[in-house]
Amino acid sequence: MTAFGPGDPCLLYDERGRTYLIELQPGREFHYHRGVLAHDAVIGVDEGTTLWSSKGAPLVALRPRLADYVLKMRRGATVSYPKDVGAILLWADVGPGMTVLEAGTGSGGLAMILARAVGPEGRVVSVERRADHSALAERRIAGFFGEVPPQLELRVGEVEDVVDEVNPDRIVLDLPEPWHLVRPAAAALPGGGVFCCYLPTVPQVQQVREELEASGAYLDVETFEILLRDWVVAGRSVRPSHRMIGHTGFITVARRRLPPA
Ligand SMILES: C[S@@+](CC[C@H](N)C(=O)[O-])C[C@H]1O[C@@H](n2cnc3c(N)ncnc32)[C@H](O)[C@@H]1O
Repeated sequence: MTAFGPGDPCLLYDERGRTYLIELQPGREFHYHRGVLAHDAVIGVDEGTTLWSSKGAPLVALRPRLADYVLKMRRGATVSYPKDVGAILLWADVGPGMTVLEAGTGSGGLAMILARAVGPEGRVVSVERRADHSALAERRIAGFFGEVPPQLELRVGEVEDVVDEVNPDRIVLDLPEPWHLVRPAAAALPGGGVFCCYLPTVPQVQQVREELEASGAYLDVETFEILLRDWVVAGRSVRPSHRMIGHTGFITVARRRLPPA
């Protein structure tokens, strides 16, 4: 167990289960409706420690899980939801040592999760057309890992211009028009490689499915969504939460088939 240090991300839990993400900076203060907590009070303590605000309210300091961080970090572009990324990692079969081409970087949420999944022996090339998004993503990624991990390469540009130079095992796209990438991706992927895209609307899914079919370069094409329902467990009140995230996006995966010999 290592104590919190300056620059570390920290998730503060209040007594009602609300969470606040801060980046620890000497001399700074965290202000909320139950008082003030000096960052210096957190720096040097172990994860899991209970601290007290200026009004005597408890706050437990934890390191954010990557999913907590992605959902709570300040961002520009909408992130791929962690509940969906869990499925993307398995269905796109992203694992240690692989090379993944990802676009667009957006806020860097998916890029971080992919970089951790491929590990130090792998490689993620994450491409973003907007320099401002890429710069913000770089700051957010460094905010979690301490620096941009060496296996993660952030590039500014059009993913269409990069796809044929990366030699990816997997291609993961969270951008509005992935159908433009279907054929270039087929040329870049090895046999068995996975093309995966994440789309919010049905017409987009139809268009990418039509292009996957028309290309003749893929098989095992699937589209699905992930519904996550929280439960309340409080005494005898054990039931689904009244509220849930009703819709995020549809995941489509396809595997590269080589032309018949
Ligand atoms: C929804 S965001 C991606 C969010 C990201 N998955 C995350 O978790 O933070 C979509 C991003 O794709 C970028 N984009 C759209 N088309 C692109 C293209 N052809 N090449 C590169 N980036 C593109 C947009 O600028 C935007 O930042």
